[in-house]
Amino acid sequence: MRQARRVPLVAGNWKMHTTYEEALRLAGVFRERLDGVDGVECALIPPFPWIVPVAERLSGSTLVLGAQNCATIDEGALTGEVSARMLAPFCRYVIVGHSERRHQLGESDEMVAAKLQAALRNGLAPILCVGELLEERDQGIAEATVERQLLHALRNVQADQVRRLVIAYEPVWAIGTGRPATPEDAQAMARFIRQWVEARFGAALADAVRVQYGGSVNARNAEAFLRLPDVDGALVGGASLDVEQFSQIVRLAGEVGRSEHGVTAVDSR
Ligand code: 13P
Repeated sequence: MRQARRVPLVAGNWKMHTTYEEALRLAGVFRERLDGVDGVECALIPPFPWIVPVAERLSGSTLVLGAQNCATIDEGALTGEVSARMLAPFCRYVIVGHSERRHQLGESDEMVAAKLQAALRNGLAPILCVGELLEERDQGIAEATVERQLLHALRNVQADQVRRLVIAYEPVWAIGTGRPATPEDAQAMARFIRQWVEARFGAALADAVRVQYGGSVNARNAEAFLRLPDVDGALVGGASLDVEQFSQIVRLAGEVGRSEHGVTAVDSR
């Protein structure tokens, strides 16, 4: 299933962490260490208020920016929301459907679908997060849960938009727990996701779409995930705030990208 053109994406989701000074320092250090690393695309995903200053720090480098969320609509009376249209000048990616938003903030499958549409309509690449709760895994409905999330989120997506999409498999029980999925389970679900995309959109798009793993990825365990045939990079939370760990994960992904995918340059989409 490996395709040479599938550049692994390592994205650092900073969540609701960092002060302004820390954000600028991290952006500067990551730029120094990771600008121009071949075989991988590296995205930093800071909190909203730091997006513009971090974008300025990264300007002219190969590092790109993402946002952690966007509104369902582009403009309007919606106090506190930030729209994909506002993010588009600064960001390449936007996370939609992160489990913290689904489960702690009550974000429904319908809202996730609307946010995904908002991202696409504004030229952003959505990183769609899917993943089951521990009880859903224990009940044997992990795949059914992920399938439901995919079905809702991608219901109105056109085939020509699928190439821009990134799907992050993040089992909820693995997030922030220090207890990642096994590489076998991550591969099985990434494969299941790719097969679902194939059934819906065809083999060429299933080969093109990137599927990340996320959940307690760190510098020690990253390589096992990055080498999986259906996993194209990682969505990193806690370890993305640690300069040594995140740099190492990105470099490892670059090595894997160069050796297994034949990728030598960052994708310029
Ligand atoms: P951790 O890497 O801290 O488990 O978080 C994963 C995550 O939620 C990334 O979006």
